[in-house]
Amino acid sequence: MSRSSTTWTSIALAASAPLLCAWQAAAFPTLVQREEQAAIAALSTVQITAFRPYTHYASTGYCSPASTLAWDCGHNCQANPTFEPVASGGDGDLTQFWYVGFDPRLEEVIVSHQGTDTSKLLPILTDGDIILEPLDKKLFPGVNRSVEVHSGFAGTQSRSAPGVLAAVQKAITKHKAKKVTVVGHSLGAAIGLLDAVYLPLHIPNITTRFVGYGLPRVGNQHFADYVDAAVQRATLSAVTHINNKKDIVPILPGRFLGFHHPSGEVHIDEAGAWLACPGEDNPSAKCTVGDVRNIFVGNGTDHDGPYDGIEMGCSGSS
Ligand SMILES: *[C@@H]1O[C@H](CO)[C@@H](O)[C@H](O)[C@H]1NC(C)=O
Ligand SMILES: *[C@@H]1O[C@H](CO)[C@@H](O)[C@H](O)[C@H]1NC(C)=O
Ligand SMILES: *[C@@H]1O[C@H](CO)[C@@H](O)[C@H](O)[C@H]1NC(C)=O
Repeated sequence: MSRSSTTWTSIALAASAPLLCAWQAAAFPTLVQREEQAAIAALSTVQITAFRPYTHYASTGYCSPASTLAWDCGHNCQANPTFEPVASGGDGDLTQFWYVGFDPRLEEVIVSHQGTDTSKLLPILTDGDIILEPLDKKLFPGVNRSVEVHSGFAGTQSRSAPGVLAAVQKAITKHKAKKVTVVGHSLGAAIGLLDAVYLPLHIPNITTRFVGYGLPRVGNQHFADYVDAAVQRATLSAVTHINNKKDIVPILPGRFLGFHHPSGEVHIDEAGAWLACPGEDNPSAKCTVGDVRNIFVGNGTDHDGPYDGIEMGCSGSS
């Protein structure tokens, strides 16, 4: 009985091999599905407006710890008036400013990191001696050593990581929160993307999301794929990196140096449309890689915005 059923199973398996392939094709994204998803679509006004709170939170990342802890920074803070700060840190020099708190309207813990001037960032991104290194074993337990990131970004993230983690845990406990959104602009976006990978490794049962602005490339192909896979299995609920017009920062460091973006680009075009660009480093002329072909085509002024009318920087002026 058991023998014949085994035989039957093997015959059935052999006969249905093409069917199995079809089943696997349905269960996992295939080339065909990727191509279907590859349509570049403009976000609706409602979808763009939904990013406004996060754009202000990213812009507020430039404010001093004293002002974010008191939530007293003028226009940017007033744009998210019900925010409840939990902790702030950084010195704006070796460690970028950061703050953590709770937004009761969004029911989310917010983590934000300060960015930097383009003039300070460009040398870090164009340095021919850029080192890619595996993620720190203690901060990123269990992540494959083939996942490598920019050593400068890794060092910067590691300095604020323990403080950010403690603050997020405190905010979750205090507000019974289940969702965390990490935001940042420029260098702050790079640190934020690493935080979005880091936090779920230490806090079970939370949904983490990343919204970055003017994000440089953070890691290698394995890193980009790790982030995409985390989104697939919903460890990360979403990764969105919004690039303004001809900003050159998102094309750096170059892919020829081994750097790659995860999926989730939104490119703001010259007319101000927000275009969702599927895939990693989408080469379409509507997306950053195709539009900003090299640093000479790029325009550094676009790095700070405006993103839906909001300029990055503590004042958040438009
Ligand atoms: C780590 O990644 C490499 C390269 O993709 C792969 O060959 C290896 O099997 C992975 N190791 C583990 C433990 O998953
Ligand atoms: C996480 O969620 C699962 C299922 O809801 C639950 O059994 C588990 O206790 C939770 N873990 C923690 C640390 O809250
Ligand atoms: C760069 O962008 C700014 C703002 O959009 C614009 O005013 C300026 O003319 C642009 N510079 C070049 C060289 O295109």
